[in-house]
Amino acid sequence: MEQSALKKAIELLGLGDVVGMPTETVYGLAAKIDLPDAINKIFTTKQRPDFDPLIVHVANTEQAKMCAAKWNELAQTLAQNFWPGPLTIVVPKAKTIDSKITSGLESVGLRCPNHPLALELINACGPLAAPSANRFGKTSPTTKQHVLDEFNSQVFTLDGGACQVGIESTVVGVFDDHLEVYRPGMITPSMLKAACNVEVVVKESPVAPGALKHHYMPDIPMYLSHGEIPAPLQNKKTNTITLADDPSIAARELYQRMREACTPGTEAIILIKKPNQQGEGWDAVWNRVSKAISILSSHD
Ligand code: TXA
Ligand code: MG
Repeated sequence: MEQSALKKAIELLGLGDVVGMPTETVYGLAAKIDLPDAINKIFTTKQRPDFDPLIVHVANTEQAKMCAAKWNELAQTLAQNFWPGPLTIVVPKAKTIDSKITSGLESVGLRCPNHPLALELINACGPLAAPSANRFGKTSPTTKQHVLDEFNSQVFTLDGGACQVGIESTVVGVFDDHLEVYRPGMITPSMLKAACNVEVVVKESPVAPGALKHHYMPDIPMYLSHGEIPAPLQNKKTNTITLADDPSIAARELYQRMREACTPGTEAIILIKKPNQQGEGWDAVWNRVSKAISILSSHD
């Protein structure tokens, strides 16, 4: 890892700029939480609507507690079991957290990422707000090159290699006696239940952009198929994606495959869903795919 790149990233963040930050899930577009102009820059760079709250990335549980007005036993158990890792824990926000970060909500999403470069950045700069480093509604980046492609090389980005998880974190709301999963991820409801022994309700949040019908979309329309080529696409130039049979590998490769399939001249991408590719471990993968696909209408 280049120390000089890390140093430059820390300097830019201190000056109120945004920086591409590798994490184990997807690359984030990071800014310091105590610099309002930097937070605004995240929204303008991404062309992100301001009703969409940002995740605050912390280096440890102590920092998380400073961002929270209430950190109960359930939050603590989740952090102990799944941090650093792909779990965002939503708790009541501390007064010091700018409401621009939370889109006016009284809660804040906190995550300790499992990536050495992200942790070094946070240790040097304090907690960092970071959404996925893509233009709003588009596919999340899983390599440095993807981030450069998204923003025409305008965003300084650290190279942390290809993301190992490959899709965004599970987002879970913490209550006194139960948990609510707002966005599915590779940490599944059964894993949460096994760790906490409370009811886990799956409930996509109306405030989560993942809950918008269209999200994660590639530049070329993608369609889901169970094997056959849909009739309206038979005479078109298409690229086909078949995912690995292990859901962790499928998740790791999904966004990279979607980007690779966007070759010049291609009119449609067909993603094949094999019958054996289902079960709880697949839910997050199919959740992202369902939001990334276009639906064939009878006029196509
Ligand atoms: O893996 C990830 O979560 C990546 C990496 C960079 O950490 N980040 C990411 O950020 O996916 P973003 O902004 O693309 O998605 C954040 C999700 C959204 O669905 C947002 O609505 C939800 O977290 N979220 C954030 N704060 C929330 C809150 N207070 N209540 C409910 N949902 C919240
Ligand atoms: Mg995103």
